Amino acid sequence: MRIFDDRELGYLEEVLDSGVLGWRREGMTGRFERAFAEFVGAQHAISRSSAMTGLAQAVSCSPAGWGSEVICDPIVQFGGLAALNEMATPVFADVEPDTLLMDPASVRRKITERTRALIVTNLWGLCARLDELRAICDAHRIFMIEDCAHTTRAYWKGKHAGTRAHVGVFSFQQGKHLPTGDGGMIVTDDPAIDEMLYGEWAFGETPKWFTLNFRMNELTAAVGLAQLERVSGYVDTYNACQRHLDEAIKGCRWLKPRAIPPEAVPSAYTWLSFWDGDRYGMELARFQQIAREKQVPLRFGFIGKPAYLWDCFQAATDPDHPGRAAFKRHPLFPGPKYREGDCPVAEERFPRLINCGVMLPTEEQGRQLAERLRAAIETMERG
Ligand SMILES: Cc1ncc(COP(=O)(O)O)c(C=O)c1O
Repeated sequence: MRIFDDRELGYLEEVLDSGVLGWRREGMTGRFERAFAEFVGAQHAISRSSAMTGLAQAVSCSPAGWGSEVICDPIVQFGGLAALNEMATPVFADVEPDTLLMDPASVRRKITERTRALIVTNLWGLCARLDELRAICDAHRIFMIEDCAHTTRAYWKGKHAGTRAHVGVFSFQQGKHLPTGDGGMIVTDDPAIDEMLYGEWAFGETPKWFTLNFRMNELTAAVGLAQLERVSGYVDTYNACQRHLDEAIKGCRWLKPRAIPPEAVPSAYTWLSFWDGDRYGMELARFQQIAREKQVPLRFGFIGKPAYLWDCFQAATDPDHPGRAAFKRHPLFPGPKYREGDCPVAEERFPRLINCGVMLPTEEQGRQLAERLRAAIETMERG
């Protein structure tokens, strides 16, 4: 259950009593940043207005920009959008079929002499193979960014999400593990990056680099500090709900669970499984109907296709695309057009994706949801 009560009010009152609502390192934002850095085990944390602004800013403090390439993953669009926003060309690496996370082997194949940054999404509560990706980045002098919007309190080989890369970016948007309404956090161990981001606030002198205002304010930080004290409890509940759903599909031949590698500690966000029924002559439409009847809120096929087949990415590199007008401030991005077949694993997986929200207020609700899913599976199997 998400709780907003006296703890949040107490910190909010402190802010109001201080008479200062705007960001300050000696105020509530600074307190939240230091507490968050300690929570994830990073040297520095810089609070932001959202994860999307944090991702764009992470690209802007990397060596990537116009004429260079940023490797992204294709299941969600956020990394690609951050690259486009900073005028760099997104190049999409494929994913592993059983986790849907960026595949290091595909990354190796996508690197060119123009690759300057990589944005890996720790998707739906699970970290990608972060140590392997960091080693690849180091070998090729690539700036690594982790999108950790779904991985507050998730770990890979004992290290918190966001701390293997040069920069990790978290989201505190309402639907995330640690909600402040909107908000985000950049974490880094590099004092030069911390200083660069801090330089954003250096009003009154010539900016040392080009960026805009992505600050968090003191009121948001007050809620964030209180929620940080609660987030581990939330994540424990969500992980328990996810385990119930995994249990419900155990033994089902035609619904395959998402693999959770032994090196990963997840922070459940969206539960994922894969439809395999076509291999047994089963009809997906029938299972969709049964799931509706049993009130199991499954989402089929997620957003339908990989990000690079969306109009906004297609239009970035295709002069004849009808969506070109949306790029009024961008010249045509150099590089090949995005095509079907660019990430064959992602394309094959999309129609098989079956998601379900597991950020439920109580474990009991997760257990009941799992029971309904089990009943839907049994109905389907009866034919
Ligand atoms: C993977 C991922 N990255 C980034 C974002 C953007 O987060 P925000 O809403 O804080 O900008 C989201 C939002 O849903 C997300 O799911």
